[in-house]
Amino acid sequence: MLIHSAAQLLTISGGPQRGRDLGQLGIIEDGAVLIRDEKIVTVGKTSDLRAAHPNEPMHDAYGCVVMPGFVDPHTHVIWAGDRAREFEMRLEGAKYLDILAAGGGIISTVRSTRTASIETLIAQTRSRLFRMFAHGSTTVEAKTGYGLQTATELRLFKALLALEEESRLDLAFTFLGAHAIAPEYKDNPQGYVNLVCETMLPILSQWWEVHAPGRPLPFVDVFCETKAFDLAQSRQILTQAKGLGFPLKIHADEFDNLGGASLAVELGATSADHLVKTSDADIAALGQSDTVAVSLPCTPFGLAELDYTPAQKILDANGILALATDCNPGTAWNESMQFVIALACRALKLTPAQAIAASTINSAHAIRMADRVGSLEPGKQADLLILSVPDYRHLGYRFGTNLVKQVIKKGRVYSVDVGYYRTA
Ligand code: NIG
Ligand code: FE
Repeated sequence: MLIHSAAQLLTISGGPQRGRDLGQLGIIEDGAVLIRDEKIVTVGKTSDLRAAHPNEPMHDAYGCVVMPGFVDPHTHVIWAGDRAREFEMRLEGAKYLDILAAGGGIISTVRSTRTASIETLIAQTRSRLFRMFAHGSTTVEAKTGYGLQTATELRLFKALLALEEESRLDLAFTFLGAHAIAPEYKDNPQGYVNLVCETMLPILSQWWEVHAPGRPLPFVDVFCETKAFDLAQSRQILTQAKGLGFPLKIHADEFDNLGGASLAVELGATSADHLVKTSDADIAALGQSDTVAVSLPCTPFGLAELDYTPAQKILDANGILALATDCNPGTAWNESMQFVIALACRALKLTPAQAIAASTINSAHAIRMADRVGSLEPGKQADLLILSVPDYRHLGYRFGTNLVKQVIKKGRVYSVDVGYYRTA
């Protein structure tokens, strides 16, 4: 199939885009892309590609922007229930970490997730994955972390593997057993840390070989934060995980600076995420590393907090900046990377081009999938968006509505207005 006549074709080739190089979109005006067998064969000018491939089935993208599908590299998409009442309590003055310490917050979603059947979990998560796909995310990272006990954490992986199988999305998987201290260990947090290290991680590594053969091991992530896991506990868990061969991620500096970003760099983590209260020393360390700095602007927005990731400092320090939704029931129930881009332009002062590169090629690096997705280059998966806008800057400029006309996943066309499961 030849997708042709795009007003702008964004190739976003090369990368990762470090520091001030962020925002290279590789724009081809009146662009075309040739797709065969789920992959991109070539990109170029419409006139050249039409002349070279006259008998190819044609797909008209006249007047539209064509770009790689969004890669959302940080979500907590699998959970049961909701926390609408807590949202209201926060508006009335309650603080997020205080609600958590009082047994609400993450722990309240843990209760509803533990008691939900796998069918319920799959059904509720399916609707969120559907929205992500319809809003242009073609690859999504998904964390466990609302089980906090071995059997439930594995059930979440089982559900996620089933969801990937039935859906059109590619998922990247992350074990977040260290999302909060399990309620049973409220008075013995170190006991829970030891359980994660000595029981959960070894069991997961064996389970994965049986249930996800041939797939890369999931990431292991830790919520390094006051009232969650301190720096020493985060180090213990991530070091143990690294020893078992797991790639690493960390939640760092969402509310307090504990030094999690520097720990991530020291351990060679793939990414450090949130990064709101990050110190200059941590930013310098990130900038000298290959650890991707993943900013989640929906989280302070969702919490009505005023501080956001110091993105300009990260770019000045030559860091690799990526964006994600953080989709979760507590702080940021949002499925749309388009909204993340709009917010990043305002709160992080990114240009639309920077925000787009941070949501595609750099976010693909944040989940180690840049060899397959994140740009329109020969050999990569044919994961593309056709946006009903004439200029890429409409992303960021416009917000709160869906600008995606069609999602093309592995070469198959899905028209957003006729639904996810039907081909155009
Ligand atoms: O990334 N910070 C930890 N995890 C989520 C919030 C999870 C929740 O509140 O349920 C986050 O913001
Ligand atoms: Fe998160």
